[in-house]
Formats: sequence, structure tokens, C-alpha cells
Amino acid sequence: MPADPSTLKYRALLETSEAFITCREIDSLVRTLWNALQPVIRFDYLSVVRYDQGKGVGWLEASAGADLGLPVGASLPLEGTPAEIVLATGQPLYIADLRAEARFRPDVAQLIASRGLLSGYWAPLARGGKHFGSLGFSSRSLDAYPPGDRELMDHIARQVTIAVENALAFEQIEELRKKFEDEKVYLEEEIRAEYRFDEIVGASAPVRAMMQQIETAAPTDSTVLIQGETGTGKELVARAIHQLSRRNHGTFIKLNCSAIPAPLLESELLGHEKGAFTGALAQRIGRFELAHRGTLFLDEIGEFPLELQPKLLRVLQDGRFERLGGSRTIQSDFRLVAATNRDLRSMVAAGRFRADLYYRVNVFPIPIPPLRGRREDIPKLVRYFVQEFATRMRKEIESIPAESMAALVNYSWPGNIRELRNVIERSVILTAGKRLEIPKDALSESAGVADGRVLPLAEAERRHIIEALESAKWVVGGPRGAAALLGIKRSTLQSRMEKLGIKVARGMTDS
Ligand SMILES: Nc1ncnc2c1ncn2[C@@H]1O[C@H](COP(=O)(O)OP(=O)(O)OP(=O)(O)O)[C@@H](O)[C@H]1O
Ligand SMILES: [Mg+2]
Repeated sequence: MPADPSTLKYRALLETSEAFITCREIDSLVRTLWNALQPVIRFDYLSVVRYDQGKGVGWLEASAGADLGLPVGASLPLEGTPAEIVLATGQPLYIADLRAEARFRPDVAQLIASRGLLSGYWAPLARGGKHFGSLGFSSRSLDAYPPGDRELMDHIARQVTIAVENALAFEQIEELRKKFEDEKVYLEEEIRAEYRFDEIVGASAPVRAMMQQIETAAPTDSTVLIQGETGTGKELVARAIHQLSRRNHGTFIKLNCSAIPAPLLESELLGHEKGAFTGALAQRIGRFELAHRGTLFLDEIGEFPLELQPKLLRVLQDGRFERLGGSRTIQSDFRLVAATNRDLRSMVAAGRFRADLYYRVNVFPIPIPPLRGRREDIPKLVRYFVQEFATRMRKEIESIPAESMAALVNYSWPGNIRELRNVIERSVILTAGKRLEIPKDALSESAGVADGRVLPLAEAERRHIIEALESAKWVVGGPRGAAALLGIKRSTLQSRMEKLGIKVARGMTDS
């Protein structure tokens, strides 16, 4: 016995509402609608369009039936479309003869005509006065929808509203879940590279000045530019700034601009949607987004590719961007800390760094002095690292020979604190007894800086004096002292040493 039309309608409604409760994707929701409504309403094209009212754009969320060739998810102008009319009136729109409709944009009218669609009905997807889209039915028959059908379609649209809201909420939850998963990985990295502010060792005037700058800059939200030679502790300072800021509950996200090839850098920062480019198999959250409410540390910003600099600048200016292949604008609130061992100003002059980006980044510069510019910190650092490695390697090292300390203090440290730390690590490994033994080749100047260059006279003199001091076991005067070896008076040697910043390691010997 054939069911009467109202029973069929009732059944269709039941079927759709059941599907809507469990449906998490708008795409499968539209397919469900298509199948459930076919027996009761005539239509050849079904679509869900969403809008961004502020921007005057809409996009096709999902469709079924006649292929209009519109890309799903891509922003399309709303002007002169059925969706625009629905949005403007807030009322359903019925057009019995699409061929006679004068409000459509010519290309829209042509597209409709080319697919042979003759009548259509569009119902708003709205809740609480907020319109976020429309549900459209079109048919290849003229005047296809009598009032009874339209009533049913309004009813369906109300269900679709809820289902779309659910699907969007679900999407957001999914996104957040992914974000936290990603964030967890970073956080684990964080814990390993744990921050220790008391790790900034040093009491020299330059270090004290630097600490003061850190403390001043940290609580503000302004961009900090850390400048220093390699191994001076730029990353340590960046982490300290994050820890001392109000954002210390957020994540510290690091990106080394020189470690990532330029083509990947963009997606690393912005993230990308699934399928944004070959190889983009899954959606990926970028570092900008991950650093939301936290700190983004751009290491080696001097290596940031020139062609991407305008993009970076734009994001720094308003914190808004789109993922690659995505149309949705994402807002991220991050604080930028950048570091470089380059002289950005001269890079700007040479046209290798954009001036506008330089000014945006160089808001609060914190220079870190090279180790050779604050030699009085060296004994402290040496003891600190000896203790660190001795503990780790379960060795008991009780003293550091005076000559060794003097040699450490007077070395030029081209690799700065990282090099010092490595030298101490090697020394601790090699030390058999209780006195620290420094490998002979560890402090060879030629390995570090000279590499075939002609040394400035003062530097050559400095090294020559240090050599003499070393062979005299750091005794300056007397018949076996360095002055005698050099054939100059003790007082002459002393004043040269003072001028060249050479210190005899008294008071910083055996600790
Ligand atoms: N003031 C300091 N006190 C103690 N340890 C320090 C200090 N500064 C740096 N270090 C240590 O020296 C090493 C190098 O520091 P860091 O990685 O921060 O330097 P960097 O300037 O970022 O180097 P690069 O330019 O090579 O990236 C790290 O092991 C760090 O813990
Ligand atoms: Mg670094």
C-alpha cells in the first residue's frame, strides 16, 4: 500500500533528525538530507552556504546533486547571489522562475542557467538573530515548490541550523584537541630543555646590566631582540624573558629560522590545511597558532628569507593570518622574542633585511656581551660547569690548577659560553684524579679565530705574552718569570698585561 504524502514527509523528517544528532560533518549531513528528502521533495541541487558577514564573502560548505563546479570552502563574493538576498532579508527566498530573476549577478545567473535549474528555495540558517548561512534547494522544474514543501524545507532548515552548529563546534573541539596534542610535544621539549634563571651565571657589570634589561622587558608585552655572538646564551635569555613574563603559563615556542628551508618555513609558521599542497596529508597547526597566549621565539631572525619577510611583518602587526590552503582568519596573541648573531642594521643597509621588519622587531634590544668582554665571569662559569659535569659523571674534582684557570680566563672564546661549557665537559671526562685536567689542544687560538687571517698586532702580542706566562707557570717576575723570558722589565710586562686585559689567576685558582 503506497504511503500517503504526509506519512512520507513525517518519515523523512524522522530520518533526517536522527541523522543530524549523530552527524559530525556538514558534508555527510548534506548527503543524508539528499537521500532522505528525495522521496518527498523534487530537487536537483542541494547546498549549504555559510557567510562571513563582516567580509561580505560566503563559501560553499557542502553540496549534492548538479555539479556547479564551485570549490568547497573557497571564499566567494556574496553580492548578487541567492545567499545575499536571504542574508539581507532574513527571510526564506522562493523563486519560481530563476530565468526571470533580475537580482542575480550575470555570472551567477549564467551558472544557474547552464545547469538547467529553473526554480529554487533558500532558507536561512539562523539562530538568535545571527545568520550564518543558508540551505538551498533547486530544481530543473519551473515552480517546483508548493507551500507545503516550503514549510517542510523551513522545518528542515531549523534542524540543519542546529546540526551545522554542532558540526562546527565539533570541528573546533577537534582542532583544539589536535592543537593540544601538538602542544604537548612542544611542552615535552620544553621540559627537557628546562629553564633555570639561576643558570644565568655571571656577576660582571655587563651581565648585571643584561639581567636588568631582562627584568625590565619581561613583564611588558613588547617585542625583544636579543643580539649576541654564537654561544653567548641568547636562548637562555629568551626563556628567562618568557618565564618572567605574564605569559609564563602559556607555551614557549621556538623556531630556528636558519634550520628550516625557506619553502617549509611558511607552513611551519602559518600551519596548513589538509591538501594545501602536495604532501600536506593532514592539517597542521603552525607555530604562530601554537604560541597563542605564549611566547614565540624566532631564533636566527637574520636568516629569515627576504621574500617571506612582508608576510611575517603583516602577522606581527595584527596577529591575524590564514593557514596555507585555508580561508578562515585565525587570530593569535603571541609575544615575539627574536634573536640574532648578525648585525641586522647593516643587513638592512645591504638590502638583505627589510627595514620595516627591522623596526618592528628592534623594539627592545638586549645585547649580550661576548665572553671575552667579561673575563671576570669566567672562573665562576668554570666552577659552575665543572660542578655540573662532575656531578653528572660521578667524579670528584676538588681543584682547578691555577695555570689552567689562567689559561681559561685568557683564552679568546670565539664560541663563547657554549665553547667554554664544551671544553669543561671534555676536561671532566678526561680528568682521572681530583685536579681538573684541560686537554692541551682545547684552548688553541688558531683553531678558533686565526684560521689563516693575519692577527691584529695587539692580539698577537696578547697571545705571545700568554704563551710566555704559561711556560713560566704564570710567574711574572724573577729569573724564571715571564718578563725575563720576554726580555722586558717586570713593570713593563705588567702594564702591557693590564692594557691587554691579561689576568694572572690569583684568587681564582684552586677552588
Ligand atoms: N650566563 C650563562 N650562564 C650559564 N650558562 C650559560 C650562560 N649563557 C649561556 N649558557 C649556556 O651556554 C650554552 C649556549 O647557550 P645558548 O644556546 O643560549 O646560546 P645561543 O646564543 O643561543 O647560541 P647560538 O647562537 O649558537 O644559537 C647553553 O648550554 C647555555 O645553557
Ligand atoms: Mg641559539
